Amino acid sequence: MYRTHTCGELRLANVGQTVTLAGWVQRTRKMGGMTFVDVRDRYGITQIVFEDKPTSSSSEKGGNLFEQANRLGREYVVQVTGCVSERSNKNQNLPTGDIEIIATQLNVLNESVTPPFTIEDQSDGGDDLRMKYRYLDLRRTPVRRNLELRHKMTMEVRRYLDSLGFLEIETPMLIGSTPEGARDFVVPSRMNPGQFYALPQSPQTLKQLLMVSGMDRYFQIVKCFRDEDLRADRQPEFTQIDCEMSFVTQEDILQTFEGMAKHLFRQLRGIELEGAFPRMTWADAMKYYGSDKPDTRFDMRFVELKDVFQKAPGFSVFDEATYIGGICAKGQAVYTRKQLDQLTDFVKRPQIGAKGLVYARVQEDGTVKSSVDKFYGPEVLGELKERMQAEPGDLILILSGDDAMRTRKQLCELRLEMGARMGLRDKNKFALLWVIDFPMFEWSEEEGRLMATHHPFTHPKDEDIPLLDTDPAAVRADAYDMVCNGVEVGGGSIRIHDPELQDKMFRILGFTEERAQEQFGFLMNAFKYGAPPHGGLAYGLDRWVSLFAGLDSIRDCIAFPKNNSGRDVMLDAPARLEQKQLDELYLDIKKLPE
Ligand code: AMO
Repeated sequence: MYRTHTCGELRLANVGQTVTLAGWVQRTRKMGGMTFVDVRDRYGITQIVFEDKPTSSSSEKGGNLFEQANRLGREYVVQVTGCVSERSNKNQNLPTGDIEIIATQLNVLNESVTPPFTIEDQSDGGDDLRMKYRYLDLRRTPVRRNLELRHKMTMEVRRYLDSLGFLEIETPMLIGSTPEGARDFVVPSRMNPGQFYALPQSPQTLKQLLMVSGMDRYFQIVKCFRDEDLRADRQPEFTQIDCEMSFVTQEDILQTFEGMAKHLFRQLRGIELEGAFPRMTWADAMKYYGSDKPDTRFDMRFVELKDVFQKAPGFSVFDEATYIGGICAKGQAVYTRKQLDQLTDFVKRPQIGAKGLVYARVQEDGTVKSSVDKFYGPEVLGELKERMQAEPGDLILILSGDDAMRTRKQLCELRLEMGARMGLRDKNKFALLWVIDFPMFEWSEEEGRLMATHHPFTHPKDEDIPLLDTDPAAVRADAYDMVCNGVEVGGGSIRIHDPELQDKMFRILGFTEERAQEQFGFLMNAFKYGAPPHGGLAYGLDRWVSLFAGLDSIRDCIAFPKNNSGRDVMLDAPARLEQKQLDELYLDIKKLPE
């Protein structure tokens, strides 16, 4: 037996027992005639004491025990036997801090070269270094805890869905490419030269086929692959909790998955979420928050101001704008000129792209002092204050532009920035909601055609079906996202199960009949054999875990993530193939751009 206990479990109750632990040397400290060694494993850290005195039991490698302890380097793997004893100076920060082990035997199970960074809660390693040696980074408690939380979450997901009769079914990773949505990662086939598989962006069509098969309730905790630009909440390879249900309405699905969110909060955070989650239409989310994933931990809704400023033309920026919107930052009239300049620079950054920022402070006497005072008299500014429901001490921030959607998105960034500055985006507060009634289609400049907002199998709202022929851009879908703290944690829809309606959808999306057959023939044919009404949803597992753990990036809850350029710096992937492999696959690499 390598050990009798883990490094995290000994307490005062164990005092007097002879125990054996195994783990990694985190630190050694020599103090006079004693050497203290902190030994770590997944469960915790225990202090081992080696005294400078002859011992009766000799260690495996021989030599004096004390000297042997003094030769231990960081991250050596050791096995230590000794007697549990009460510590004179207790360490309140460690669960095992009341005890220590007076060593009587030490085996070095393996040595270690000096690690490239300190493996402690606070590491001195930068991001790149920690990613390159991720297996060492994972020895650190904060990183390991994220994986433990992830494990618990998948267990709770399975428990919840199993209790409702969902079947966990695996679907293939090597499937065909579908050009809708993000770009695919493709895999060449050696046995079918010149042909490629694609890795699934999601098992969408497969789970719908499982509904045709009568599986009724399916789920899968599944890897998905999308070749898209990366951000803090996006990885090229991520995990979905993918679900589908038959004979359900949208309401059934929202209830089921709201239930799952509540279950996870209860089991993993001890938080009881009371009542039904608020629901907001996509149109309202865009109007009031400039985003389809509003952070509703704080209010600061947009107020439209075009008509207020229209009353007194003269300021050409506002006169020419098609949209003017403001937010009211409560109690922030104390903002200095310098802070306001910083905010102006913030909205002018290329990623945001606003041309400028107009502000107005409501002073203690109720009058308004603004950056556009020379264009507007007290009447207009007074109306501005009314419209914004601003009170003395408040700061009004206004953006304008000729593209309402773009300006709202800019105002959204400003709102989030103000929320952060005002401490309103507390990581321990959770605001969940459903965003519903997404538009069915969105115009793609790149493609020059309408594209499905969600995917081509999403059912339009019944009352909007007549609009498919007359005004497709106005059609709303039975599609919904769950949003938590401004993060889209899941999304889904009711699917089309009527082949005729599906045909029509493909036509609107610009598919010829041949192309629709070629790409989705398998699904459309399956639908001819009695497809049940069905719908579903997929949660982003990585996003849920990082929300629960309060992380800034989903990378931190993935064992071996990719960096922002999509590289695995530890494995040094992607990498070139040998010529022999390319030949086998009948592949030639074009000359790469300089
Ligand atoms: P959707 O594309 O909305 O829907 O994805 C579902 C959820 O997956 C998560 N997600 C991601 N997480 C990390 N990195 C990414 N690159 C990434 N992309 C998406 C998000 C998102 O809400 N088949 C449909 C679901 C359905 O209709 O049932 C789908 O994939 O949390």
